[in-house]
Amino acid sequence: MANVTVNVNGETRTASVPPETTLLALLRDSFNLTGAKLGCDVGDCGACTVLVDGAAVNACLMLAVQADGRDVLTIEGLATMDRLHPIQKAFEDHGALQCGFCGPGVILSAKALLDESPDPTSQQIRDALAGNLCRCTGYTKMIAAIQFAARALRGEPVDKPA
Ligand code: FES
Ligand code: FES
Repeated sequence: MANVTVNVNGETRTASVPPETTLLALLRDSFNLTGAKLGCDVGDCGACTVLVDGAAVNACLMLAVQADGRDVLTIEGLATMDRLHPIQKAFEDHGALQCGFCGPGVILSAKALLDESPDPTSQQIRDALAGNLCRCTGYTKMIAAIQFAARALRGEPVDKPA
């Protein structure tokens, strides 16, 4: 067994897991953080996306031991008790998700992008979502929502879409 200590959503968590345990399994099975989804389990779909030290990673491809001592952000850490994160709010306002299975991964990929590039082009947004497969939406509303969230995060006035 390997002891793994991770700062997850601002809280230090420790677990003892078999060394082959993935970060996704650590989050879901040891920490009961089930927002990151198990889709393909081979790095193709992005449903398992979380941020590690601010970078979007496929948690199904990363070993838990590789996250030892690092900062991990999951979708559970994005909103506060009484307020959605601006990206989540924009997705809600734009109806940018349908079944929602891809949502946690898409939103965290968007966060990694906006943290790095506060005023991204639509091509940069498309590139940031290239590893996140969505079977429902066609992406158009997601891209609009991310542009909307970017304006909100830059402190610019934004109107709720009609
Ligand atoms: Fe990790 Fe699909 S479950 S990329
Ligand atoms: Fe269903 Fe994206 S909303 S997979």
